[in-house]
Amino acid sequence: MDHFLYRDGALHAEDVPVAEIAAAVGTPFYVYSSATLLRHFGLFEEALDGLDHTICFAMKSLSNQAILTLLARRGAGMDVVSEGEYRRARAAGVPGERIVFSGVGKTRDEMRTALEGGIRQFNVESEPEMRALSEVATALGKVAPITIRVNPDVDAKTHAKIATGKSENKFGIPIAKARAVYAEAASLPGLDVVGIDVHIGSQLTELAPFEAAYRKVADLTEQLREDGHDIRRLDLGGGLGIPYARSNEAPPLPLDYGALIKRTVGHLGCEVEIEPGRLISGNAGLMVSKVIYIKEGEGRNFLILDGAMNDLIRPAMYEAHHDIVPVTEAESGVEQTPYDIVGPVCETGDTFAKARNMPPLREGELVAFRSAGAYGAVMASEYNSRPLIPEVLVQGDQFAVIRPRPTFDEMIARDTIPEWL
Ligand code: LLP
Repeated sequence: MDHFLYRDGALHAEDVPVAEIAAAVGTPFYVYSSATLLRHFGLFEEALDGLDHTICFAMKSLSNQAILTLLARRGAGMDVVSEGEYRRARAAGVPGERIVFSGVGKTRDEMRTALEGGIRQFNVESEPEMRALSEVATALGKVAPITIRVNPDVDAKTHAKIATGKSENKFGIPIAKARAVYAEAASLPGLDVVGIDVHIGSQLTELAPFEAAYRKVADLTEQLREDGHDIRRLDLGGGLGIPYARSNEAPPLPLDYGALIKRTVGHLGCEVEIEPGRLISGNAGLMVSKVIYIKEGEGRNFLILDGAMNDLIRPAMYEAHHDIVPVTEAESGVEQTPYDIVGPVCETGDTFAKARNMPPLREGELVAFRSAGAYGAVMASEYNSRPLIPEVLVQGDQFAVIRPRPTFDEMIARDTIPEWL
C-alpha cells in the first residue's frame, strides 16, 4: 500500500495534488511520501517484533538527506557501502552503532573513516579485506567488529544483474570455506568476530531462497560456536521484492518474511539485523514526467516524454517494469491503446515500455512512474547533459524540494578548463 491515490480524478501524493508539485518545480521530478516510507519501515518493525533486532535501511536505494533524516528519527539504522554513504548517514544523525558497512571493495580510507567515526560492524567479504581491516584497526589502536559475508550458493530467482548469492557471484566467501576463514579472522589482532552476514539478491519474489539461505546460516552458526566463536549477531541482508506490476504481482509480505526469520534463526538467541532497501523506498516514490510529443510510427505510436533513461535507468538496465499512470485519471471504461513510451535520449535503450496500453493522452499531460522510489534518483546521471532532476518530499498537505534541479549554468560551471588549454 502507498499514499499515491486518485482523489476526484487527480493523482495525489498524500494530500497534495501531483499536478500542483509539477506546476511548482517543473518536470520531470521525483516525489516521495513520508507516510509510505514510515509505513514500510514499520512493517519490518512489526515483522521482527519479539526478536532483538536492528533494521538497517539499505540507503543505496534512496539516499537523500531528508529521507535519511526521516528514517533515522524513526530509529532506523543504515546499511552503507561507501564512505559517501557513511558520511551521509552520520550527517543525517544516525549514530555509528546503528551503521553496518557492506561492500566487496572497502578501501583502507573508508575503513579508517568508519572506525574513527563509530561503526556497528563491517560485513567483510574476503580474506584480503579482513587482513587489511585488522591492520587499519590495529594502527588506530582499535578493534573492528566484523561479520563475514558468506555466499550460500542459493539461487535467488531474480534478474541476473541483481542476484548475489550464487557461487559464481563476486560476493562473500563460499560457505564451505567459512570455518577456515573464521579461524583466521579470530587470530587477527584488530578484529572482533561478532557474527555472520548473508545477502542473496534483490527483488526476490519468493520466500524459498531466503529460507534455504537462512537455514544454512543457522547450521553455520552452530558449527562456528562449536569451533569456539561467539556468534551473537546475524545480518540477514535485504532483498524482499515489491509489486511493480500491481495488476498481477503479489510478493511475500514482510510479516511472512519475519515469521520465516523467526522460524529459521530465532532459536539461536542472536541479535538479528536486516538490510531492506527497495521494500521501504520503492513504492514510496514516483517519477513524474510530461508528454512532449505523440508520434505516429509505422505500426506503433510513441509517447515521447521529458523524462529519460538518465533519470530512471531501471527499464534500460534490468528490463524492469514500472506501472505508468496518467496524473489526471482516465475516465472509467475509456479505450486504451498501446504506446512505446520513450525518453528523448539518443539511444534505442531509452525506452521505458513497449506496447503499453494507455488511456488517451495529449501533449503536455503528466504521467507518473510508480515504484520509482528505490534505485531511481540514486542511479540518475547527467547523460546527454540533462541536469539531475529534483526530488520532492511530501508529508500530509505539505511538500518541499529536498534536492533542487541544478541550473544549466551550475551544471556547466562544475567543469574546469585547464589554463594550458
Ligand atoms: N544489502 C546488500 C548487501 C545489498 O547488496 C543490497 C542491494 C541490499 C542490502 C538491499 O537490497 P533491497 O532490499 O533493496 O533489494 N539497482 C538494482 C538493485 C541493486 C541491489 C543491490 N544491492 C535495481 O534497480 O533493481
